Amino acid sequence: MNKNELLELLNSMTIKEKIGQLLQLSSAFYSNKDVVTGPLRFLGIDKENVELSGSTLNLVSADAIIHTQKEHLEKSDKKIPLLFMADVINGYKTIFPTPLALGCTFHPELLRDCARIAAKEASVAGLHVTYSPMVDLVRDARWGRVMESTGEDSFLNSVYAKEIVKGYQGNSLLDEYTIAACVKHFAAYGAPSGGREYGWVDMSERLLREQYLVAYKAAIDENCALVMSSFNTLNGIPATGDKWLMREILRDEWGFDGVIISDYAAIAELVAHGYAKDDKEAAKIALEAGIDIDMMTSVYVKNLEKLIHEKQVSIDLLDESVLRVLELKNKLGLFENPYRFANPTLEKELILSKEHRKVARKAATESMVLLKNNGILPLKKSIIENQKIACIGPYVDSKSLYGAWSIFGNREDAITLKEAIINRKEDIQVEFLDGCKILSEDPWNLDKRDITPLEEEKMLEEAIHLASNSDVVVLALGEHYIYTGEGSSRGDITLPKVQLNLFEKVYEVNKNIIVVLFNGRPLDIVSIEGRAAAILEAWYPGTEGGNAICDIIFGDVNPSGRLSMSFPYCVGQVPIYYNNYNTGRPANEKVYENRYSSRYIDIPNKPLYPFGYGLSYSKFEYSNIGLENTVLASTGSIKASVIIKNNSEYSGTEIVQLYIRDLYGSVVRPLKELKGFRRISLQPYEEKEVVFEITEDMLRFYNTKMNYESEEGEFTLFIGHDSSVSNGINFILKK
Ligand code: BGC
Repeated sequence: MNKNELLELLNSMTIKEKIGQLLQLSSAFYSNKDVVTGPLRFLGIDKENVELSGSTLNLVSADAIIHTQKEHLEKSDKKIPLLFMADVINGYKTIFPTPLALGCTFHPELLRDCARIAAKEASVAGLHVTYSPMVDLVRDARWGRVMESTGEDSFLNSVYAKEIVKGYQGNSLLDEYTIAACVKHFAAYGAPSGGREYGWVDMSERLLREQYLVAYKAAIDENCALVMSSFNTLNGIPATGDKWLMREILRDEWGFDGVIISDYAAIAELVAHGYAKDDKEAAKIALEAGIDIDMMTSVYVKNLEKLIHEKQVSIDLLDESVLRVLELKNKLGLFENPYRFANPTLEKELILSKEHRKVARKAATESMVLLKNNGILPLKKSIIENQKIACIGPYVDSKSLYGAWSIFGNREDAITLKEAIINRKEDIQVEFLDGCKILSEDPWNLDKRDITPLEEEKMLEEAIHLASNSDVVVLALGEHYIYTGEGSSRGDITLPKVQLNLFEKVYEVNKNIIVVLFNGRPLDIVSIEGRAAAILEAWYPGTEGGNAICDIIFGDVNPSGRLSMSFPYCVGQVPIYYNNYNTGRPANEKVYENRYSSRYIDIPNKPLYPFGYGLSYSKFEYSNIGLENTVLASTGSIKASVIIKNNSEYSGTEIVQLYIRDLYGSVVRPLKELKGFRRISLQPYEEKEVVFEITEDMLRFYNTKMNYESEEGEFTLFIGHDSSVSNGINFILKK
């Protein structure tokens, strides 16, 4: 349709039909099963509302979508197709590692590839829109949803945001196997007070713009089709009712003209926040703020018509929102082909194809971070051939490898560590045991096995016996996946006690412990860190998880993952992030006499593992770090270079990281900021030069007038392996 045809359609619609386009309902409403007493009653709407609704939430599969669309169009007077939207986060059926894990790859093109595959599988399953990428900047490991973000750094997050959007949307939404992306949760949802889910956010506009808004903007610049508003308040105003955020920043400043959808029931929650008196006022506030689609409440449907008749809301405002929804449908080609790529045959063929699994395995291996290694890894041929290996722990044969938001993936498709080792068919002496349950206390009965205390004791005894008769123990530990994701903030971020006890008992009889961690957030692992021989952070690695772990521990793949979120020393440091400030009394942690400095008196300032950190089997050496010129003109650029040598017999991949510190300015600047990175692969003993170009725009920040500008002055440039790099070179910006 062209613009005129769309406008004609809009003008032909009744108010009821228009408001219907702004209503999004979940799959249950279209099932024809008991809807009158069930979901309809719950929302207080009727069948007509469902027939006029504009989009659906989490209704999937080609057959179901074709059927629902057909029925819907038969009943639709104006023949306006439904939009099918869903949470395809880290894959549809082929499940990739969780976004936080993918963030550790420092491999943006790989994230694009994962998104492309997710789009392909989702589009043949009939979907049109995914609620992804989630780009909330995260610094607080207590918050369960850190696993949905790519991490703590605004630069890294924005590079990823762009690639993920490209992966979903291709060059045009008319391209084959694309789906529309929806960047979320706008804005600053990742900074809830105290790390508590749905918590309020209070932050300066400078911090908001400089750190928190950057990745959303990157997604918008990449033509991301939709934006989802967030649940939280920002400086006292719920984001879903925040005109300044939605209209001034998103629409006017950034030029976003796509659809804004509320998060689940967020419009109705304006009342609970104490921002709207009742639903009617909530509807007015949200529409005026610019929220086009009301996800899963009847607030718009029940109130907008009245508000328009009473002239409290203008019909133009309604038309604006409806037109945006129609435009999205048009961009997706739905008026010409309402079924788009939905194809039950292709759905069966494409889903979990060899190619998709291959990328999932690559993504999983690249996202794993080797946190510690005393040399035990990779397991040498001599160990594999002659020694006994014990694989112990609740994650040894667990299929819970997807994380909390992979709602369409079938867990049976996942390859566990045990299955992967057996599938290798190597002639190794290996035995497998759970050793303990996954949780110490299980109020929600998540571990459905009902193990008695006596059986539990026996499990532990068997594990100790096996460990004492083995040469090496692979200990697969982690969080229950339900303890991560939405609604799963934790005040204690250690491993469950029952698993720590397993570690202790095994350690008493065998010191060669390789810990493999399965978790959604950085954990406090200080109690095991000093004693484990190696620690591999596997996150929730997805469908190919078990194979990917084997690739690394058996040495087929050299680990290259680097943390995209700091691992705290303990929860008392949280929120912790590398780009913090110097203060007027910076602490020298070696000099403990100086009490009056910016430090804790009982724990270190430094995290256990910093942002950017991760080990390799190779030994990378940095030398000849240099700047071609120590003066940068505002219109010019200078080159920074470094030689990296792989001084080992393992070929490997290094993530070379560039950080800059602005030494003084009209506003104090962070100690270090990531400004670039390169992935380079080096053969044994090979060396390569890596060059970065430094330009004035890398030095900009929000000054006292809130202008985004650089200032003349001195800067330090660091090139290194992670954010703890300390030797830098100074240069000057001259304008
Ligand atoms: C979450 C969103 C999600 C939506 C739809 C909400 O609870 O916050 O991230 O996209 O549900 O499932």
